[in-house]
Amino acid sequence: MSRKTLILVSLLGVLVASGCAASQSYTEEELGLRKVDLYSEKTVVAESTAYSTVAAGESKVYERAFENAPPMIPHDVEGMLEISKENNACIGCHLPEVAEAVKATPIPKSHFYDMRTKKMLGELSQARFNCNACHAPQSNNQPLVKNEFSPEYRSKEGTARSNLLDTLNEGVK
Ligand code: HEC
Ligand code: HEC
Repeated sequence: MSRKTLILVSLLGVLVASGCAASQSYTEEELGLRKVDLYSEKTVVAESTAYSTVAAGESKVYERAFENAPPMIPHDVEGMLEISKENNACIGCHLPEVAEAVKATPIPKSHFYDMRTKKMLGELSQARFNCNACHAPQSNNQPLVKNEFSPEYRSKEGTARSNLLDTLNEGVK
């Protein structure tokens, strides 16, 4: 066999092999996360959300999703949303000066800091006023796709407390 033919033959082999790998296909029915025929999904009813109905003060906090992730809300938020200028129940319990008395996690110092001017503010940053822009109530549903992510914490406390402001510029300087 000449060198040219050898190269051609091996190229052909690669093509056949990759062709085989790509030939695994999915039918229309298998494509969506809903696992029904995509053309007749009108009757599909999504699993309903199941938010906590346990009152604040009686719920159990969730482990953080990763280091310095915004914690999910473990308690009922009925009557607390939407947050408005006049009505922000969250700060009523979570401001550091009251949090300890009601056993709530205090709002961390990163929320009293101005990221633009890099200065501590004497009060809650306006950018943090709308708590539920970042903190969502946790719904008790099974994930549609198994989550393979497993977080790595640099300290044991990281699973339950954040320290973002202390680590924000780590490695930058
Ligand atoms: C009546 C007091 C109260 C109010 C109002 C309240 N919380 Fe809480 N919150 C708590 C307590 C206490 C906990 C700790 C868990 C528990 O005991 O239920 C907690 C836990 C949390 C956590 C989890 C903290 C962690 O360490 O994992 C978040 C996030 C949270 N609340 C956000 C909110 C937001 C956002 C609002 C407004 C929509 C709010 N809370 C309103 C008392 C309150
Ligand atoms: C812009 C997004 C954002 C907003 C708005 C926001 N948070 Fe957070 N929050 C975070 C993130 C991210 C963390 C974790 C990192 C950190 O501490 O900054 C956090 C952490 C927390 C923690 C955990 C503190 C700890 O020591 O572990 C509490 C409690 C909390 N926030 C409460 C609130 C409340 C109450 C409000 C509304 C007044 C609020 N947050 C508004 C993003 C936000």
